[in-house]
Amino acid sequence: MQKVATIVGQGYVGLPLAQEAAKSGWKVYGFDVSQRVVDGLNAGVSHVDDLSDSDVQEMLQNGYTATASPAVLSESDVIVICVPTPLGEAGSPDLSYIEAASRTVGKNLSKNTIVILESTTYPGTTQEVCLPILEQESGLKVDSEIFVAFSPERVDPGRTDFGIKNTPKLVGGVTPESTKLAANFYRAFIENVVEMSGPKEAETAKLLENTFRHVNIALVNEMAKVCHELDIDIWEVIRGAATKPFGYMKFTPGPGVGGHCIPIDPNYLSYEVRRNLGYPLRFVELAQEINNSMPVYVATRVAEQLNDRAIALKGSKVLLLGVTYKKNIADQRESPALPLAQELARRGAEVSYIDPYVDTWNFNGHEIASEKDWEAAIAASDAVVLLQHHNEFDVNAISAASSTFLDTTGTVDDVRRRL
Ligand SMILES: NC(=O)c1ccc[n+]([C@@H]2O[C@H](COP(=O)([O-])OP(=O)(O)OC[C@H]3O[C@@H](n4cnc5c(N)ncnc54)[C@H](O)[C@@H]3O)[C@@H](O)[C@H]2O)c1
Repeated sequence: MQKVATIVGQGYVGLPLAQEAAKSGWKVYGFDVSQRVVDGLNAGVSHVDDLSDSDVQEMLQNGYTATASPAVLSESDVIVICVPTPLGEAGSPDLSYIEAASRTVGKNLSKNTIVILESTTYPGTTQEVCLPILEQESGLKVDSEIFVAFSPERVDPGRTDFGIKNTPKLVGGVTPESTKLAANFYRAFIENVVEMSGPKEAETAKLLENTFRHVNIALVNEMAKVCHELDIDIWEVIRGAATKPFGYMKFTPGPGVGGHCIPIDPNYLSYEVRRNLGYPLRFVELAQEINNSMPVYVATRVAEQLNDRAIALKGSKVLLLGVTYKKNIADQRESPALPLAQELARRGAEVSYIDPYVDTWNFNGHEIASEKDWEAAIAASDAVVLLQHHNEFDVNAISAASSTFLDTTGTVDDVRRRL
């Protein structure tokens, strides 16, 4: 009989997972509380960057069904939870989605089902939050009746060389049997599945990966500021350092960090360290401080450039290119474009933008539209700032047409116009 997997949460993480599982012969349900998401998917329309409409249509042909009905959970052999883990009001982890999903799963759980949490979260969540809810709601006991594991997602939206299939997958179960069964599920469609000693280690590995990026981006951002003051070309410095074949990994400066993994996830780690041990995780807090300072720094650099032309930032027109958090995708979550635009507006600049992936943009309480006539918008601006190098942007041509141009991505040929 065909095995059934239900993926709870059909967003950036859950939908590509459902796609791979469906391709490998599983009967897959995509369970989501959003009826809008469910209706869109069943109509063959994708709402995430990494899947096209035809990908979703192919999934539907492979037997995939999106649903808002939790009844499908009770007929599942495997249930994977991929719901959001945002930050709460005071910057603390918000586990409400994980708790709600665990309750729904627990209420509809059958014997011998494997439940896997994929949402990024602090160490201990699977064992101390999910497992008790699942056991209590279902009345079933781990190992004799159900199996529970954590397996972190490593999706990198917009990336084409590494996807679910060829990115190694960590799995840590609350018991050895849970690890083994959960790992076997992934082995059906992932090349390299790595068993971990437990869920805490798998949860912390994910946080270490994200914190590593956060800290190294902060290091290179601080280097960029220092090099600018010392009149040293940071991009040339990085080019040189990156020729070392060992002991160095290339990171580049930018207007600040966006997305979910870098700005938000390390907070889950620092929160847990502070709560359990009573002291701060200093690297995370320092990285946050530096990376969060970048939008204001970029605004200052724009003001400096305008000043060289005897123009005040106040009253000038500043055009932002690319307001998403990374290139070639539409995802705007935590994009540094927003704090930059707010800072420019606070200093009296008139802000507009161009982004082929974002038709309208909410900023300072109102919605503005992406400029349609690119040439005219560039010509009419006092300063143009490249934030994301979408493929549609011809950077050197834009630079040539701009009276003031700041390239935060370091791609323009004229090094004096780079961050
Ligand atoms: N997006 C990424 O690049 C990425 C990468 C690695 C890890 N993660 C982690 O994966 C998790 C999910 O992130 P995402 O980007 O897929 O989020 P998302 O917002 O794109 O999707 C989450 C989906 O879950 C649904 N949902 C919320 N509560 C639910 C519930 N109780 N039952 C069923 N569905 C529910 C929402 O309607 C939404 O469609 C987060 O913990 C995130 O940190 C994300």
